[in-house]
Amino acid sequence: MNMQTDLSRAMHNEEDSNTSPNPSFDAVLSARLSRRSLLRGGVGGAAAALLGAAGLSACGGGDDAPVDEAPAETLLGFTAVAKSVADAFTVPPGYRADVLIAMGDPLFSSVGAFRNDGTDADFDQRCGEWHDGMEYFGLSATGARDDASNNRALLGINHEWVTQTFLHPNGPSAAPRPDAEVIKEMQAMGVTIVEIAKQPNGRFAYVQDSPFNRRITTETPIEFAGPARGNTLLRTKYSPDGTRTRGTVNNCGTGKTPWGTLLTGEENWAAFFARNAGDNNQRSANENVAFARYGKSVTATAGVNHVYRWDTAQSGDERFTRWNASVSGATAADDYRNEFYCQGYVTEIDPYSATSVIKKRTSLGRMAHESAAVRAVAGRRLAVYMGDDARNEYIYKFVSSQDWDPSDANRSDRMAVGDKYLDSGTLYAARFNDDGTGQWVELSLDNPAVANYAGYTFADEGDVLIHARIAADAAGATKMDRPEWGNLNPANGELYITLTNNSNRRLNPTGSQLAPDAANPRAYVDVRAGITVQQGNVNGHILRIREDGGDPAATTFTWDVYLFGAESDASPTLVNLSGLTDDQDFSSPDGLVFTPSTCLCWIQTDDGAMVDESNCMMLAAIPGQVGDGGAVTLDYGATTVTTRMGRKPTAATLKRFLVGPKDQEITGLAETPDGRVIFVNVQHPGEETAAADVGEPSKYTSHWPGNAGYGPGGASARPRSATVMITKNDGGRIGT
Ligand code: FEO
Ligand code: CA
Ligand code: CA
Ligand code: CA
Repeated sequence: MNMQTDLSRAMHNEEDSNTSPNPSFDAVLSARLSRRSLLRGGVGGAAAALLGAAGLSACGGGDDAPVDEAPAETLLGFTAVAKSVADAFTVPPGYRADVLIAMGDPLFSSVGAFRNDGTDADFDQRCGEWHDGMEYFGLSATGARDDASNNRALLGINHEWVTQTFLHPNGPSAAPRPDAEVIKEMQAMGVTIVEIAKQPNGRFAYVQDSPFNRRITTETPIEFAGPARGNTLLRTKYSPDGTRTRGTVNNCGTGKTPWGTLLTGEENWAAFFARNAGDNNQRSANENVAFARYGKSVTATAGVNHVYRWDTAQSGDERFTRWNASVSGATAADDYRNEFYCQGYVTEIDPYSATSVIKKRTSLGRMAHESAAVRAVAGRRLAVYMGDDARNEYIYKFVSSQDWDPSDANRSDRMAVGDKYLDSGTLYAARFNDDGTGQWVELSLDNPAVANYAGYTFADEGDVLIHARIAADAAGATKMDRPEWGNLNPANGELYITLTNNSNRRLNPTGSQLAPDAANPRAYVDVRAGITVQQGNVNGHILRIREDGGDPAATTFTWDVYLFGAESDASPTLVNLSGLTDDQDFSSPDGLVFTPSTCLCWIQTDDGAMVDESNCMMLAAIPGQVGDGGAVTLDYGATTVTTRMGRKPTAATLKRFLVGPKDQEITGLAETPDGRVIFVNVQHPGEETAAADVGEPSKYTSHWPGNAGYGPGGASARPRSATVMITKNDGGRIGT
């Protein structure tokens, strides 16, 4: 196995820094809420009134379509795609899939075609690596923002990591690393903004040399916005007043605001920083608590907490040494001791201007951010839902101070609209009760549990946001099974959030392991054929949350588990609780996106447990609503755990739509407003190829998309992350 990429993967799983005593609550409960009472409080009445025109009427047509206008097609009318371990991208009969843009493709013709032999440079002008979250921004024929455009648009694409094996001619060099290798990696991450235009054949092509094309990298200047702007913790040699930094790092999930901007989540940024031996002796006890809580406890050694070692670049230039967050100068204005605090945010980008100022929205907290789902209801405060993806971490919600004014959606000063809604408000974390209810607990100094926390002393509100994890520990949020993407059902405003897996759930926990609880009820053993034994919540699940009264600003909610990931032949009473069949079974849900045109829920996997049976995949679902199932008790013998589970899926409500090539994950989804084209990303195909085998194409575990005829190399190509566009041969909507 490739050590470096294996470490990249490990970073998704191994961070385990939540040592707070938070629940994990006792798993005994009574079924006080009947299904009927949950339904009565459901999407009728006040909740439905809050949805507004942008909610219900969006499904099944344009904004003007009536709610009950049934589409002519049958949703989920396609034939399910079988599980597969083939090195191919497979869609249902009647559909086709074409690569739109892949890692290294030139955004500007001046850098030339991608050779895909490890010699390509200039990644600040090429499409980045490890495509992840993605959003669609419509453009009119004259190049203005046009949310209804089906023919011309900008895609905003996140780039999470790099596969070092294939990015360089012979894989990565050991530290101290050559500058050119480090520069290539730093430039291949971040965000791509690229124009796409529909061709006469009905499919899109990307537009080279578009004035909108833009690479935002780990080096792009970025402003801090919100309460932590100017905080003493953000002061560096680069920005002595704490108002700016360079770069957005490890960009994972995305979000799109109603005012037409991209939100990009910075996830495993901590892995890019070095910390010298002995740096803890230069720091206060409080600082060391904070470093430990964010996975950088004492010293950073090569490995899971210091992956690419950019700070070791041979020239020693400050461009590289800033990735070492150690005390080295007299004051914070003389070194990069605080650089560690400058990553880990939701960052907002206006895609409609290639020179627009980019802002880190500190009010949304600092953590391992995945997606950011915005719920804007006229006359109500706006909410942004977020997951912190590490074992035993939390689900968060930001609520704006300002009520949402729909006329702001059309303003041309988009970043100023972001200032209005995203820079002042309240951050919360979720606490799940055994009875199917929950609370959003406030993360501010107004919460005495935060202000008086014994485990860490917060200097100010900026410190609370920069150390949101610690504030959530203090406030008593519920530790979850790795929260990944969250998104909102456009039909009813309910939040769906994936909990991808958790190797730290145990029936008899020790150390940082947790016992199952109502919202994270499974702990079991799975054998991946002939390879490994995995324990915990191996296959992950998907939670749903309905805010009380349907109000985005509500501080109480009801919840249930929408689906449990499982192999179809797993125990129906302890593992395959949702009764998944061969056409539906999946493991490790990660990306989750609703398409407004159809209100279908798309579930994408990033799995290491079921890969003996199938490569990672995407399923389509017609969801129900919170409370449409009931209480389910898992009998573990010595103990029982009762959870809330949604109605089980049927063949008509959940179906596998595609399977990707080998050793990749499917992530990110965007659609044209008419629903006739969707775009999805294939991330890190061939990731398990050993770096030592880079000279032997026969040993690559994937050759996609070269083997599908895209780019150089053919059947012996180096694999590449790519954006795929999916169309239906009859021109119909995707998912029908
Ligand atoms: Fe970037 Fe947690 O997946
Ligand atoms: Ca298995
Ligand atoms: Ca993810
Ligand atoms: Ca992932």
